Amino acid sequence: MSLLKRRKIRAFIALFCAVTFTTFLFSYTLRDPSLYFFKYASRLSDSFFSKGQCGCGRCITEVDDDPWFTERFNLSVYPLMTRRTSLLTDDTYRWWQWLQVERQPANYSEVVEKLFQVIPDSDLYMDAGPERCRSCAVVGNSGNLKGSRYGSQIDSSDVIIRINQAPTSGYEKDVGSRTTHHVMYPESAVDLDNTTSLLLIPFKTLDLQWIISALTTGSIKHTYIPVRSRIKANKDRVLIYSPTFFKYVYDTWLESHGRYPSTGFLSLMFALHICDTVSVYGFGADQYGNWHHYWEVNHLGGAFRHTGVHDGDYEYNVTLLLADKHKIKMFKGR
Ligand SMILES: *[C@@H]1O[C@H](CO)[C@@H](O)[C@H](O)[C@H]1NC(C)=O
Ligand SMILES: *[C@@H]1O[C@H](CO)[C@@H](O)[C@H](O)[C@H]1NC(C)=O
Ligand SMILES: *[C@@H]1O[C@H](CO)[C@@H](O)[C@H](O)[C@H]1NC(C)=O
Ligand SMILES: *[C@@H]1O[C@H](CO)[C@@H](O)[C@H](O)[C@H]1NC(C)=O
Repeated sequence: MSLLKRRKIRAFIALFCAVTFTTFLFSYTLRDPSLYFFKYASRLSDSFFSKGQCGCGRCITEVDDDPWFTERFNLSVYPLMTRRTSLLTDDTYRWWQWLQVERQPANYSEVVEKLFQVIPDSDLYMDAGPERCRSCAVVGNSGNLKGSRYGSQIDSSDVIIRINQAPTSGYEKDVGSRTTHHVMYPESAVDLDNTTSLLLIPFKTLDLQWIISALTTGSIKHTYIPVRSRIKANKDRVLIYSPTFFKYVYDTWLESHGRYPSTGFLSLMFALHICDTVSVYGFGADQYGNWHHYWEVNHLGGAFRHTGVHDGDYEYNVTLLLADKHKIKMFKGR
C-alpha cells in the first residue's frame, strides 16, 4: 500500500470514529438528563475563571458596584470624536464654545468633515468583555515621581498615557520610556514618534483647525498665543477627545466644579472608560506638599494646582474616592 493510501484510510477511520462518538453523545444527552450536569459544571467553571466583566482579576465595572460609582459611570458616552459623536446637542456646543471663547468661530461641521479627511474615523477600544484585560497607566507630571523608580512598572502596562510636555528621556527610571497615548492641546503640543497616538483635547473650533493644519499645510501659527505650526505625529494615530464626553466629565464627575476639568483629570477619565485596570502615577503634590513638574527644579508654590480654571482640590478628591472604591490604583511616589 502506498503511503498516501494508508494516510487516507487512517483519516477515514478517525472521521468515522468522530462521527460515531458525536452521534452517540448527542442521542445519549437527549435520553439521559444526568449529562446536563456536565454542561452545568462547564458553565460554572467558565464563569469562575473568566470572573465576569473583564479578563483581569478585578475590573472597573463589577457586579457589586457601589452606588456613587454606578450613578456616574456611563460607558455609553464614547470618549473619542468620530463623525457620529461629533454631532453635538445645542447645549453641548454652547458649553464647549464657552470654554475658550472665539470671536468668529469657523463652521464646526465643515471643520469636522475636513478633519476626518485627514485622520481616521474609527470606533476604538470598545471591545470590553470577559476575554479582555487592558491595563492602563496614566502618568501625571507631578514632582512626586522624582526618585519613585516606577519606570519599569509603568512600562509594563498595555496603555501608557502621558500629558502635555511630559519628557521621558533622562527620567526613564522614574517615569518609564514607553508612551502609547500623548494627551495635548495646541498650546502644549510636542512632537511624537510614529507609534504613539496623539490625543488632542479641543477647547475650541480653532483647535480642530489647528490639528488639520499642523499635520498638513502648517498655516495656523497662533491661537491665543503663538503655537507650533507643524507637529511630528502619525496621522493614522491622531485621536480627538469628544466634546460630549468632555461635558459629561465636567457635569457628572466634577459636578460643575471649576471652569473645566484639567488635562490630567480628562486623561484619567479617558482611561477609566477604555481600560480594565487603571494605575495612576504622578498626580498630586510631592512629599513636601509642593506642586511642580518632575522635570523642573523643585520650587515652592503652585505650578499647576491653582491655575484659575481647574478645581484641583475637587478633582483630587474624586481621584482619591475612585482609589478608595478600588476603581483605580494610586501610586503616590515620594
Ligand atoms: C448614559 O449616556 C447615554 C448617552 O449619552 C444617555 O442616553 C443615558 O441616559 C446615560 N445614562 C445614564 C444612567 O445617565
Ligand atoms: C455650516 O455648514 C453646513 C454645511 O455646509 C451648513 O448646512 C450649516 O448651515 C452651517 N452652519 C452655520 C451655523 O453656518
Ligand atoms: C509611520 O507609520 C506609517 C503607518 O502607520 C507609515 O506609513 C510611515 O511610513 C511610518 N513613518 C516612519 C517615519 O516610520
Ligand atoms: C475634599 O474632601 C474632604 C474630605 O472628604 C473635604 O473636607 C473637602 O471639603 C473636599 N474638598 C473639596 C474641594 O471638595
